[in-house]
Amino acid sequence: MKIFIDTAKLSEIREAISWGIVDGITTNPSLIRKAVEEEKRDMSLEEYVAEILKVAGKDRPVSLEVMSVKAEDMIREAEVLHKKFNDIADNVVIKIPVNTYAGYYEGLKAIKKLSEEGIRVNCTLVMTPEQALLAAKAGAKYVSPFAGRIDDYLRDKKLNMRRGTDYQKGDYYPWEGRNVDDNGIVSGVDLVSTIVDIFVNYNFDTEIIASSMRNARQVREVALTGVDIATIPFKVLEDMLLHPKTEEGVKKFSEDAKKAGYEDLFH
Ligand code: E4P
Repeated sequence: MKIFIDTAKLSEIREAISWGIVDGITTNPSLIRKAVEEEKRDMSLEEYVAEILKVAGKDRPVSLEVMSVKAEDMIREAEVLHKKFNDIADNVVIKIPVNTYAGYYEGLKAIKKLSEEGIRVNCTLVMTPEQALLAAKAGAKYVSPFAGRIDDYLRDKKLNMRRGTDYQKGDYYPWEGRNVDDNGIVSGVDLVSTIVDIFVNYNFDTEIIASSMRNARQVREVALTGVDIATIPFKVLEDMLLHPKTEEGVKKFSEDAKKAGYEDLFH
């Protein structure tokens, strides 16, 4: 499974790349906003985005999202972003929502057109297997099912729970023994797994990015589905690394190393 980092913060991107585990980067307008508010110092937004692409380098695709909702506007924005930034490291991918509002089919139109132009598209805000199937047919290079947000949806709508009061964003879901579903999909991991099962039947070039990852266990479970990619926030990467027994072991080993006079070995 490839790992993308789901952030626009340069500090997190640099740190995770230094661990040797990053195959790509995904951003969205909310992540860009957070990075700008917390990190951007004396750079313009354009310089900041250019820096992300440079730090990522040629072999790590970076997803940048459009902001409009009409196909012609999304296509124009995607072309501008691609033209402006792709020469830096040939790694620009454009995020297009699978659909923008009921009754209009702007997402698929934009995906089709951009894919025909050779611009790689990451179809975002995928909440059902059917959307993923249509996006792949329209030519998306990636589809991004939002596992965490489907878990939110099930908890909020089906269980009448309130985020921040009854459960926290990072809580693992589903709970044992609870049986709610969204048209047969019982959790975010189930959404990813169902899309993987569907795509195995066909020769789509489209890769699946398990997105909206909220905790380490969810990453483990999407890895078990054989999904191509998981895009993971920095906090969840930390979560994947930490275990109290690892920390305790390191502490004990370094104490014993000192007591055994280990330093001598390194001169
Ligand atoms: C990545 O492509 C998505 O934009 C991101 O994973 C969404 O995560 P969130 O649901 O935690 O905001």
